[in-house]
Amino acid sequence: MVVAIDGPAGAGKSTIARRLADRLGFTYIDTGAMYRAVALWALRQGVDFADHHRMEQLALASEIELSPGRIRLNGEDVTEAIRTPEVSNGASRVAVIPGVRRAMVAQQRAIGEKASVVMEGRDIGTVVFPNAQVKIFLDAKPGERVRRRLAEVRAKGDSVAEEQLAAQMSERDQRDSTRADAPLAQAPDAIYLDSTPLSIEGVEEAILKIVRSRVTNGKEFH
Ligand code: DC
Repeated sequence: MVVAIDGPAGAGKSTIARRLADRLGFTYIDTGAMYRAVALWALRQGVDFADHHRMEQLALASEIELSPGRIRLNGEDVTEAIRTPEVSNGASRVAVIPGVRRAMVAQQRAIGEKASVVMEGRDIGTVVFPNAQVKIFLDAKPGERVRRRLAEVRAKGDSVAEEQLAAQMSERDQRDSTRADAPLAQAPDAIYLDSTPLSIEGVEEAILKIVRSRVTNGKEFH
């Protein structure tokens, strides 16, 4: 079973997807972390993002392992290293390259074919798993998304000006939703959820209800 969650930055996808996966006993897959890992490697190697051929080769050669709460790139734990503003911006830039997307989508499909997953990203319900049993488009008002991301950054002990963060997020969302290949978009059969007025528990319960209603084989989820 695939639960696909797409939406813009800061809508709460990671928090919700992780909790849902826990509740359902599914594997949680953060596809943004995969694009981040490719961007990190390219930045470290000094590969020009405009060199699409090299970027595709790099994406194909990257060994990305996702385990609960951790991500490894070529054997190295890069969980923290992929969360810098430079890598956020880089991930959005490498994600426009069709060859990079092909490499990532192949890995994502392979994972989803082996296990039940809650997979979050930008193109999961539209491209990666167009036949996913549950598709959610998780959104929130821009101000709220910035506020949540700001709280996350501050909780880590880092500091950033709110206006600067807002500008970075808006630039990234703009690029992610206007690129030619697999832009951020709501699948026609996805359920739109605005998390602005909801608590984390509220969003979780709303999606769990949808998942349960789609389970037709009599299996119970708790
Ligand atoms: O979810 P995130 O913010 O960590 O993702 C980082 C970038 O990766 C995002 O700006 C766009 C890209 N991305 C994508 O193009 N497709 C996905 N399925 C997931 C992320």
